Amino acid sequence: MNVLTNLGTEQLQEKDNRFIHPWQEIKAIGTSKRTIIKKADGIYLHDSDGNRMIDGPAGMWCVNIGYGRDEMADAIRDQAMEMPYCSPWSEGSAPAAILADKLAQISPGDLNNVFLTNSGSTAVDSALRFVMFYNNVLGRPGKKHIISRHKAYHGSTYLSSSAAGKERDKSFMDTNTELFHHISDPKPFVRPDGMSVEDWLEFLVKEFEDKILELGADKVAAFIGEPLLASGGVSVPPKGYHKRFLDVCRKHDVLYISDEVVTAFARMGHWFASEDVYGIVPDIITTAKGLTSGYQPLGAALISDRLIEQISGDDVADSYFSNGFTYSGHPVACAAALKNIEIIEREGILEHVQEVAPYFQERLRGLSDLPIVADIRGEGLLGCIECDISGGREEDLAMDHEIGKRIDAHCHSMGLMLRPMINMCVFSPPCIITKEQIDEMFDILRRGIEATMEDVRKEGLWRG
Ligand SMILES: Cc1ncc(COP(=O)(O)O)c(C=O)c1O
Repeated sequence: MNVLTNLGTEQLQEKDNRFIHPWQEIKAIGTSKRTIIKKADGIYLHDSDGNRMIDGPAGMWCVNIGYGRDEMADAIRDQAMEMPYCSPWSEGSAPAAILADKLAQISPGDLNNVFLTNSGSTAVDSALRFVMFYNNVLGRPGKKHIISRHKAYHGSTYLSSSAAGKERDKSFMDTNTELFHHISDPKPFVRPDGMSVEDWLEFLVKEFEDKILELGADKVAAFIGEPLLASGGVSVPPKGYHKRFLDVCRKHDVLYISDEVVTAFARMGHWFASEDVYGIVPDIITTAKGLTSGYQPLGAALISDRLIEQISGDDVADSYFSNGFTYSGHPVACAAALKNIEIIEREGILEHVQEVAPYFQERLRGLSDLPIVADIRGEGLLGCIECDISGGREEDLAMDHEIGKRIDAHCHSMGLMLRPMINMCVFSPPCIITKEQIDEMFDILRRGIEATMEDVRKEGLWRG
């Protein structure tokens, strides 16, 4: 039993103020009053005041099989008792070996080489370090530049945050601007007025190829992209984008890293989205989150045979990939991943998502009649509403920045937690969500948006 369960909300909030949270607002240190989550089951969270809420973002897009799984707890406990740790430098362990083999089987194409890490950031960081290492071994140390996109999110280490493209996240932070370059966020919503989606795709492909040519193909090592930009507001690229980008990569000998930290393990109805949803086999896939459904921290970079063969032949220098973590292939985390994969297979969760996702997307698009909603985006069990109350009027733009939080606050009080981001709310519920629960979720969301419209009307902030 958790030793802290007897503490009340205020006591926990006071202690929580000692915890510098990710993306912590520094001036709020010491005074924050965060919701304290005490329990969770299925798709629901229970806070320390006894309120039950649907977990709209599935934790941080990660609790794919849902909460309260005894089998996961048993697998974690059993492995911790059997052998909680062994050095990944010198020894192997059954959970890490079996997991690596399983990931090679379920991943697309020849992505058969598995580098295990502790998180998505370290998976991306390791993939980027691998690409740089690969070019060093091949004797082309100048081929190091990385092309990413505005609004991308790839993590919080120095390299992965340099690949990320959210300007606001970089305001007070240092990143590498010499080797990392950003091209357009691909969502059609931001294309110039009057441009067709087909022309937008042509623009994006040309912009990418032009960037390679501008930097010099002999200097560009890789393109890194999420199949859809999740934290960037569920930005879904136009149809055909992934294949066209891979073609450009192949033409210029640039590697394609598909960052599937969010989109794998049932989120889009498949183990991975790259091939099954978007028809491409990239050179490297990075993943984390749904790999253990959040029950343990774990990430992975899956690297193609083709790349490994190129740097391990007789005519290349002997080398070490000097990159790794004390907890690479952590036995307890790997045991959790194996049990998670077993549950997804046994319960048919991939098929379940394929069945309910069209309904989820239909209910999502059903919100388009609400005048405050400017764009709706989504695919699989991922969705986003983007709101606009300023209509582009400068003086009202600040209000747009608050709107996601306001919708979330209303929904929260009605039993739904969202992830507010500026003028957007995103959601990616646990992949076990049923059609009835999808109805429950979107009924609350509609009421939350309506209540927000009422507030901003009353406050004279919106003329709609
Ligand atoms: C696409 C993507 N890549 C990488 C990361 C970083 O993962 P982590 O927070 O586990 O380090 C995230 C986290 O949200 C992500 O969405």
